[in-house]
Amino acid sequence: MMHALLIQFLYLLFFLQIKTTAAAPTQLRPGFYAQTCPAAEKIVRDVIIKAMKRELRSAASVMRLQFHDCFVNGCDASLLLDDTPDMLGEKLSLSNINSLRSYEVIDEAKEALEQACPGVISCADIIIMAARDAVVLSGGPNWEVKLGRLDSLTASQEDSDRIMPSPRANASYLVDLFSQFNLSVKDLVALSGSHSIGKGRCFSIVFRLYNQSGTERPDPAMDPKYREKLDQLCPLGGDGNVTGDLDATPYVFDNQYFKDLVSFKGFLNSDQTLFTSAARTRKYVRYFSRDQEAFFAAFVEGMIKMGDLQSGRPGEIRRNCRVANSRPLHALLET
Ligand code: HEM
Repeated sequence: MMHALLIQFLYLLFFLQIKTTAAAPTQLRPGFYAQTCPAAEKIVRDVIIKAMKRELRSAASVMRLQFHDCFVNGCDASLLLDDTPDMLGEKLSLSNINSLRSYEVIDEAKEALEQACPGVISCADIIIMAARDAVVLSGGPNWEVKLGRLDSLTASQEDSDRIMPSPRANASYLVDLFSQFNLSVKDLVALSGSHSIGKGRCFSIVFRLYNQSGTERPDPAMDPKYREKLDQLCPLGGDGNVTGDLDATPYVFDNQYFKDLVSFKGFLNSDQTLFTSAARTRKYVRYFSRDQEAFFAAFVEGMIKMGDLQSGRPGEIRRNCRVANSRPLHALLET
């Protein structure tokens, strides 16, 4: 009996070793797939172009995936895993439920890549390429992405709930949070500039409109005309899923977002606070509102730094971004 168990265990260990790669952080680099799948970046870009033709907003939705993936145990596509009977994934976490979207765009890219080069490109790298493409195709800066990530074997709703910031967050909380990921105040402000494209739900701002910090009053740091507009869009007790634009040019990646913050027309509390609550973030908001090129350069730097986050845990190249190929040893032993 013991003998049979031991053999089973060793077999399992062997099986896992050939399917997954060990825990050392991978050396990411540009051109990682130049030999194994030279068309990879073009394939992803074409899928993003198609998705944007269907729905312009998908650029914003796809780009946001990088943030929500990389902050929770590194850029490992953990975000894309569907729940299983023994794993609550990240899709239903507080920040993601009814909010993250365009997962199907990543699926489409994965399918096209599996056709061209089966088993080669990780879902984690697809997110990174797709986020860059979404920015470029919305009129923002271009940059070379580092690749070579592996996909996680698991995901954690708990970790996502613990880490991802709320739209109520204030500047000092965000500065502290980002610093835990080796991201500076400048990185925080530049990366928040991603809200230059996309939309947010009334759900994310009703507290700001009607009961800021428990005062039963609106946030005073709002332009009165802008507040009137948001009051109409999001009446008290109205549908929380109605969406509004995160800045005045929601389909163009530009520095309008920062101009809006300077004139107290930020949509989210976590945006407006960068201008109103702390001198160290205000300085960059003002700077980027005046100099789009400086914003673009800082944004690229921030995206690359964020893309470098890794957990060091074992990984694999998933065949389907929603499902792990193999499961970690402890999960297999528990079943
Ligand atoms: C600084 C902390 C951040 C907070 C508190 C925050 C919060 C939010 C919230 C609440 C929404 C609207 C969600 C909804 O109402 O359903 C949103 C949308 C969005 N966020 Fe952030 N975010 C932050 C940083 C970032 C970063 C770093 C990125 C990417 C680099 C990003 C990209 C986006 C995009 C593109 C959208 C619009 C998505 C769409 O239209 O589908 N955000 N964010």
